[in-house]
Amino acid sequence: MTVLAHVSDLHFGRVDIGAAEALFDDLKALRPDLVVVSGDLTQRAHYWEFLLARQYLDSLDLPWLAVPGNHDISPFRLLERFTNPFRAYRTFIEKVTEPVYVDDEVVVVGLNTARRMALEWNWAHGRISRRQIRRVVNEFERAPAERVRIVVAHHPFQPPEHAPETRVVGRSAEALERFASAGVRLVLAGHLHQGYIRVVTPTEVTRTGELKLVQAASAISSRLRGEPNAYNIITVTGGNLDIRTRIFEGGAWRASDAVGDMPALAPAD
Ligand SMILES: [Fe+2]
Ligand SMILES: [Fe+2]
Repeated sequence: MTVLAHVSDLHFGRVDIGAAEALFDDLKALRPDLVVVSGDLTQRAHYWEFLLARQYLDSLDLPWLAVPGNHDISPFRLLERFTNPFRAYRTFIEKVTEPVYVDDEVVVVGLNTARRMALEWNWAHGRISRRQIRRVVNEFERAPAERVRIVVAHHPFQPPEHAPETRVVGRSAEALERFASAGVRLVLAGHLHQGYIRVVTPTEVTRTGELKLVQAASAISSRLRGEPNAYNIITVTGGNLDIRTRIFEGGAWRASDAVGDMPALAPAD
């Protein structure tokens, strides 16, 4: 059995301290095999924010794996942004922006969807290159067949059902098709600060069972978009997946009834 804690959009620099402290205790009590962080570790990519994020992850004393989000590229250090956008991330968080984790149950492959710029005004959107798709598929081709294949990225691959116009990561359809063919069962992501699950229908899947897109809300940021802080616990046992959400409410973390069934919050800010 492998237990993954899927946390996203920590946004150190704009953290709800109560949620962060309680999450620390929650994770220490649950002791997942791996903490998977799907990007936006910081709010403004300041060095001190990266330092806090790294110290927080290390202090859990649990294995962790992270990919960068759009907030982890500096909006201020422009030379760095254009010449070496992940310099600070690599310095403070991890040298590798697309890490891989393998154990007896799972293969988790990181995919960096954050981009230094785009041909439009809003540079927050993410994109996947064909080279990145090939690399992910190659990682899975090398892995033993029975391991559950999981991709972790920052940007969403499909919008929430209730908001179909929501922007998704560039080249998402092509990537999903290739990932499905490579036997990927889960894609974990964040960015929208909304938790939901989309199932890629079996007709779109060419090789194995269904592919689930699991979105996490923000774990500890005070930037909430109508939902409480939340994260996902994914248990993999002999190829079977169990996905649960934990939410922060009334100063404590507790199990939620379902992912995608989040209680609405009054807009906070
Ligand atoms: Fe975010
Ligand atoms: Fe983001």
